[in-house]
Formats: sequence, structure tokens, C-alpha cells
Amino acid sequence: MRVFSGIQPSGNLHLGNYLGAIVNFVKLQNNAECIYCVVDLHSITVWQDPSKLQKNIYEITAGFIASGLDPEKSIIFNQSKVKEHAELSWLLNCVARVGWLNRMTQFKEKAGKNKENMSVGLYTYPILMAADILAYKATHVPVGEDQKQHIELSRDIAQKFNIDFKDRIQQLYNKDEFFILPEPLISGPVPRVMSLRDGHKKMSSSEISDMTRINILDEADLIANKIKKAKTDSDSIPDNYELVNDRPELKNLLSIYAGVLGESPKKIIEDFSGKQFSHLKTSLTELLVERICPIGNEMKKIMSDKSYINNILNNGASKAREISEPVLVETKKIIGLS
Ligand code: TYM
Repeated sequence: MRVFSGIQPSGNLHLGNYLGAIVNFVKLQNNAECIYCVVDLHSITVWQDPSKLQKNIYEITAGFIASGLDPEKSIIFNQSKVKEHAELSWLLNCVARVGWLNRMTQFKEKAGKNKENMSVGLYTYPILMAADILAYKATHVPVGEDQKQHIELSRDIAQKFNIDFKDRIQQLYNKDEFFILPEPLISGPVPRVMSLRDGHKKMSSSEISDMTRINILDEADLIANKIKKAKTDSDSIPDNYELVNDRPELKNLLSIYAGVLGESPKKIIEDFSGKQFSHLKTSLTELLVERICPIGNEMKKIMSDKSYINNILNNGASKAREISEPVLVETKKIIGLS
């Protein structure tokens, strides 16, 4: 089992990243070889202020460490330090089909009506993601639900490569398949955390209003204010979790509560049943301040020690290159480039 996953340094590491992905990253590091990447090349598919990008790379790295990732157990690095990602991405650009990319819902959502004006990188972004995963022949990819379609695309690309070059793979390496088809692991405590202001939209770092999300670096007062102002409806809380399905904002607050606590939402609804939203909001604020603020405080401490972070990223990059470089060399041989 080899695990690969990544997070974009686009600022505002948030509760969705934590509950959808990072909690699972930490769990997996004790049972598998794990590679976690700060995907800085992905982040520049939309505008990033150059004077903030390094700080954002440090933020994600510090978030990894403060959440419990151990650089002795997991390989931690940033994508732009390992050139194999970009080079393999080009090779896979020539395997993936335009029709496949046209089906990617995330591009459609992000581009909206402004498709013509988006960077080409935003469009081909899932191919870079496939390169990230395939360069390590990762078997499992822990992600939130929003990334499922991208992992499926990575599988399609791996499979097409294996079929297109079947004879070469057989002849050179005496194998039927070269790339491994990666499995998505969508098993974080909350696979889809929703916006605090709209239970139909996912919580996202790119949403303009900061009130839609809890950032891991938020202070207690700000968390209290965001939860207080989170959208709700006027009914009280039912005793059966099935009844929250058509109440997305309630469902979201309950799943966040359960996810942070490490319990199932079905179990915790009993504690709040018959009560008003304000009761749930007060308890949720207390829980977030108790569990998330210490991670944020630790992140701030780590972020102030740049040489410590640089050390982790440099060591991680050289370990990552030891795995991805031979894969790229072999891929080029299979294609006939060397
Ligand atoms: P990114 O940076 O948008 O998000 C990082 C991780 O956090 C998860 N996530 C969420 N989970 C639950 N609820 C939410 N509201 C929420 N928002 C984000 C994401 O699913 C993801 O797991 N393309 C990826 C990064 C990437 C990658 C990779 C991932 C690049 N290469 C290779 C896996 C393997 C992305 O933009 O994630």
C-alpha cells in the first residue's frame, strides 16, 4: 500500500481540508508508506500573489505537522521541487483525451461562464494530478469527495497508457501493466464539509467571504462569530438523523460536530434532539476552540521557524525524487524517448 495525496497552498487551510483529508493522512501514516505533497503547481492555475505563495506553502506544511504528520514517517514536500511531476504531466497530456477533460465538473464549476478566460492550466489541472499520483505508483489516494472524479480520471489515464504501450511494457519490463490504477480513499470523518453560509455549497478556500469557512488558523473569537452567524433554519433539532437530509445547514453543523469529536452524527443527534440551534452552536464553538485552536497555535509556532520547514521540504523532495525519477525514466523508455 502506497499512499499519495496533496493540498493546494492557496491560503486559508480550512476545516474541510482537515476533516475531509488531513485526519485520514495522519491515520494512514502508521500503516502505509505515505507521500504528502504541497501542490504549489496546482495552486498557480488561478492567480496567486507571488509575495504570499511561499508563506502559503509554509502554512500547509505547518498544518501537516501540527495535525500530527511525522516527517520521519511520511514524505512531505512541495511539488515544484520535484520536476518529475511537471515532466510526467506533459507525457500524460498526450495520453489523456480532450473529451475526458470536458467532463470534469470542478473545471465547469470554477470556470462558470468565464471559461474562455481561464488559464489552460486550470483546464489540464487533473492531468497534473494524475502525474502526481502515477509518478509514485501510489495504490491509494485519500481525498475529500470533491476529488473523486479526478482520481477516476487518473485511473483512466493509467489504463490507457498501459493499453497503448502494452507491447513495449511487456518487451522492456516483462509485465502486463506499468502504471498502477489508484484507488480513492474517501473515508475522512466528513467527506464533504459544506459552507457555513450555504448548505448546498462545499466549504472552500477560494470562496470570497471568510465567514463561509472555519480556517485552522482562526482565533477563538472569530470561530465563535462564524458559528454564531452560520445559516440555520427555524425548526428545532429532530431525534432521527434521517430527518436532517432536507435541512443541509443543520446536517452540516451536526457532521462537523461529529467529525471533530470522532463520533457518528447518528449518535450525537440524540444529545441535541428537541433543542434549539443556539444550543448546538454553543457546543460546537466550544468543541472547535478546544480541538482546532491548539492545531492553529502549533501551526503559527512552526510557521515562524522557516529553516525547520525548509529542512522538512528539502529532505522530503529528495526522498520523493528517489521514487519518482526512475518511474519517469522508465515511462520515457516505454514511449520511445530514450
Ligand atoms: P484541495 O487543495 O482543494 O483540497 C485538499 C484536500 O481537502 C479536501 N477538501 C475537502 N474535503 C471535505 N470537504 C470540503 N469542503 C473540502 N475541501 C477540500 C479535498 O478533497 C482534498 O482531499 N486537486 C487537489 C490537490 C491534489 C491532489 C493531487 C490530491 C493535487 N494532486 C494528487 C490527491 C492526489 C485539490 O485541489 O485539493
